[in-house]
Amino acid sequence: MIEIQGVTQRFPNGSGTVDAVRNVDLSIRKGEVFGIIGRSGAGKSTLVRTINLLNRPTEGKIILDGKDMTTLSADDLRDARRHIGMIFQHFNLLSSRTVYDNIALPLELAGLSKAEIAKKVEPLLELVGLTALKDRYPAQISGGQKQRVGIARALANDPKVLLSDEATSALDPETTRSILELLRKINKELGLTIVLITHQMEVIKVICDRVAVMEAGEVIEQGEVLDVFREPKHEVTRALIGDVIAHELPKGVLERLRARLANTEAGSGTDHLFRFAFTGSGVDQPHLSEAVRRFDLDFNILHGQIDEIQGQAFGSLAILANGTAENITNAMNYLRAQGVVVEELNHVI
Ligand SMILES: Nc1ncnc2c1ncn2[C@@H]1O[C@H](COP(=O)(O)OP(=O)(O)O)[C@@H](O)[C@H]1O
Ligand SMILES: [Mg+2]
Repeated sequence: MIEIQGVTQRFPNGSGTVDAVRNVDLSIRKGEVFGIIGRSGAGKSTLVRTINLLNRPTEGKIILDGKDMTTLSADDLRDARRHIGMIFQHFNLLSSRTVYDNIALPLELAGLSKAEIAKKVEPLLELVGLTALKDRYPAQISGGQKQRVGIARALANDPKVLLSDEATSALDPETTRSILELLRKINKELGLTIVLITHQMEVIKVICDRVAVMEAGEVIEQGEVLDVFREPKHEVTRALIGDVIAHELPKGVLERLRARLANTEAGSGTDHLFRFAFTGSGVDQPHLSEAVRRFDLDFNILHGQIDEIQGQAFGSLAILANGTAENITNAMNYLRAQGVVVEELNHVI
């Protein structure tokens, strides 16, 4: 559906240059929700802007539905872009236009008649749940409602792909969830391919099928979301997953925890923070109590949750373990042998 091949985006930087995106290869399948995650400055926005050629890549190709976007003429590019919808962190609505007229804008630009526009806008209002608010102005609706307008506007031209750049980053957690549910519904009902950029692992967990992790312009890890959550390979990915846990801990607890961990010397037998991940039947086995009994450890459970990722039960526990270095090592080896994925989080939380 979308092939990103060897894409590099180089910008002038003082007297030299900087590669905001470096040699990225990604293959996004039709109908999937593909997440791109990374810290601020990783190159995510720059990469997504190359997909619709808002940035022309310095090197590489963007192939959308078999068409190489980088070689299109200005006219053909304008046509091709109609098939790509985009939503943004700050919604980018026109404040002087009503909800209805914001959604109608791309259709007006495409030259549709008033009647044709109404035929498209009414069902879109219905889809995003804004029919009752269609005559309001952006200043008269909430952030979540503004993003619903943004989504409806992005869908007006029947795109094949929806690009979302931090679309929920300005929203509170509850509103974030409702917007992600709406995107999932659109993905399922319309079969729309979605490329979703975020710095929040929680967002990836809720909605994406596959994910790529970016750092310093490069893709450092990618795979099915469940696999990446279960066994992150890269330190940056571990840190992003650590954020999900840190986010859930009360601030005071997190600060005390950080202070305790700062006093732990590497390899010593004091405090260690672990994340245990379980899938399938591992979720309901008593592996932890067995490890505590066998290896004479103290476990303090800090955070736990069981989710479903792509229809599979997935449990995650953050535990502060205390014991001798040898017992800790043996206990972790024991747990790994039972199929538990064990990550030490001392340095990432
Ligand atoms: N037009 C530009 N000119 C120079 N540097 C840029 C430009 N756009 C982005 N960058 C740089 O590229 C890097 C990646 O930026 P960006 O893609 O916005 O990251 P992200 O969206 O992951 O936070 C940053 O260091 C940023 O300063
Ligand atoms: Mg960005």
